[in-house]
Amino acid sequence: MCTVISLNNIQKSFGDRKILDHFSCVFKQHQFTIITGRSGKGKTTLLHLIGLLDQDFSGEYLLFGQNIRSLKPSKKDLIRNRSIGFIFQNYHLIPGLDMQSNIMLPSIYSPLSGNPISKKISQRTEDLIGMFHLESLQNRDIRTLSGGEQQRIAIARALLMDPDVILADEPTGNLDESNTNMIMDQFRNLTDQGKTMIMVTHDRSIADRADRIIEL
Ligand SMILES: Nc1ncnc2c1ncn2[C@@H]1O[C@H](COP(=O)(O)OP(=O)(O)OP(=O)(O)O)[C@@H](O)[C@H]1O
Ligand SMILES: [Mg+2]
Repeated sequence: MCTVISLNNIQKSFGDRKILDHFSCVFKQHQFTIITGRSGKGKTTLLHLIGLLDQDFSGEYLLFGQNIRSLKPSKKDLIRNRSIGFIFQNYHLIPGLDMQSNIMLPSIYSPLSGNPISKKISQRTEDLIGMFHLESLQNRDIRTLSGGEQQRIAIARALLMDPDVILADEPTGNLDESNTNMIMDQFRNLTDQGKTMIMVTHDRSIADRADRIIEL
């Protein structure tokens, strides 16, 4: 299995509070990792750091074999857009946009795009709507959707660009058992297809679906 992410001796503090202390870990292709740990232990902080959303830390981070500190900002933006799918703990959907536009957002903001939405993106959006059973939510105001409905849209959006690395911050936190199982099946399939899956959860009952568990 190819190493995709290598973290060496990572230290992250907020003020004088150490959140990550000499944290080292390797994440590989075809590997589904679950990260768990008490509230406030630094799970979201770690995902943000892996997702290139926070570079204020010490230690070494190699992504696809490259030291992220040597990457130009434009290259980092491109990696974030194309190669990393981030499912945020609070979804971060855009209330003024409909479901399709929310799912298509990564293509609209793509540094390489500047083009009208391609047939490929429209097709992929339709495929994701089917994959996550979102058909009945078309034309609904995003603000009126339930937490679980918004959560599934956020998952679809994170997968739009077919990223190599998927970072999921409590992606099943608002889902019922059947939707949780559906998401875990999709995540397992994506991992088996070669993705690097990193998921934060408090739910011990689904942890056996992963290849390993890291407790922070
Ligand atoms: N921008 C910030 N400034 C100061 N402290 C912060 C900041 N972001 C997070 N923290 C603190 O860092 C700690 C780790 O936060 P983090 O969000 O990573 O926890 P978590 O493990 O994801 O928790 P939860 O399970 O509740 O989501 C918490 O104590 C939090 O209050
Ligand atoms: Mg968190």
